[in-house]
Amino acid sequence: MSGTPPGAPGRTGPAAVITGIGSHLPPDVVTNEDLSARLDTSDEWIRSRTGIATRHMVSPGTATSDLAAEAGAGALDSAGGPRPDALVLATTTPDRPCPATAPEVAARLGLTGIAAFDISAVCTGFLYGLATAGGLIASGVAERVLLIAADAFTTIIDPLDRGTSVIFADGAGAMVLRAGAHDEPGAIGPTVLGSDGTLSDLIEVPAGGSRQRSSGIAAGPEDGWFRMRGRETYRHAVDRMTTASRQAVAAAGWTTEDVDRLAAHQANARILSTVAQELGIPAERRLSNIEYVGNTGAASVPLLLAHSAAEGFLLPGHRVLLTAFGGGLAWGASTVVWPDVKPG
Ligand code: UT7
Repeated sequence: MSGTPPGAPGRTGPAAVITGIGSHLPPDVVTNEDLSARLDTSDEWIRSRTGIATRHMVSPGTATSDLAAEAGAGALDSAGGPRPDALVLATTTPDRPCPATAPEVAARLGLTGIAAFDISAVCTGFLYGLATAGGLIASGVAERVLLIAADAFTTIIDPLDRGTSVIFADGAGAMVLRAGAHDEPGAIGPTVLGSDGTLSDLIEVPAGGSRQRSSGIAAGPEDGWFRMRGRETYRHAVDRMTTASRQAVAAAGWTTEDVDRLAAHQANARILSTVAQELGIPAERRLSNIEYVGNTGAASVPLLLAHSAAEGFLLPGHRVLLTAFGGGLAWGASTVVWPDVKPG
């Protein structure tokens, strides 16, 4: 666990302030009935155990960069103003293992020449991305950062694994962050990040990295698929998001009663309600779109913010608590007073 999170007072450098937001879902929809037709599962099981009814999936030939470019274009439209100096892409499903996907996304958006790189923190990628963007801005490396979180998770899910097929899905969310003041609406508050690599095998893709390649043992056909030990992961998700949330709220000088909206990684509806209950945040203050998007990995939190703002459930002035958890293990939490931005 990271130690004490940096406190807002005395922070050096400008703050990262949200000035635009965008999102994108691929058009193809997969229903619980579609999954039940090919897997030993049911609509009733999926709804009651995960809260998911439908999710979106890329069509053949569509890659993460395609989703990322759409969401990024939306965020740039929403922000208006000068072009960003850096693009940070959080993803677990890059177009290729090498090179990073971010430079290609930048080129597609007419941003060739700017700093562009990927970060890998699985479902916590957006929170790690917020901290990274904040660091680029605070250090003066960039004045404006386009942060995109995009995952084509269905491309790494074993279609025969009912434990993961029913949850994971595809999508992208994006934000433009600009240099500003720590006390203005949209300024990202103190961010808490943590990891526990002793549990890295709870969520993994075993093949394709240097560990498997240097072993001299050929990967089995199933080793390239994503694997998750769901029940154990569930327990850690609740503990870590709850603890990180408390720390972020305290570092912002808030209490959990001050939180107007909880924007938690949409991992599983039961996880979300347990985290909210433990934090004492009532149901009407929880943002949720898991029913129709599923678990979209790194994209989950920015997609949730964009959808909730578009639906009028997230309003300027709301004090928002952001939290996420996923493979690594890795987790994070932060706060923001929602700014007056129109999702693009
Ligand atoms: O994104 C960040 C990281 N991910 C998460 O935070 C996800 C965390 N985990 C979960 O969301 C849940 O653990 C799952 C949704 C993956 C599974 O739900 P669960 O309530 O933990 O189920 P379980 O794995 O304990 O399995 C309970 C039963 C088992 O049957 P038996 O042994 O009790 O007879 C499973 O075989 O449910 C069975 N099962 C299913 N049945 C129908 C597991 N998956 C399915 C399925 N349909 N899709």
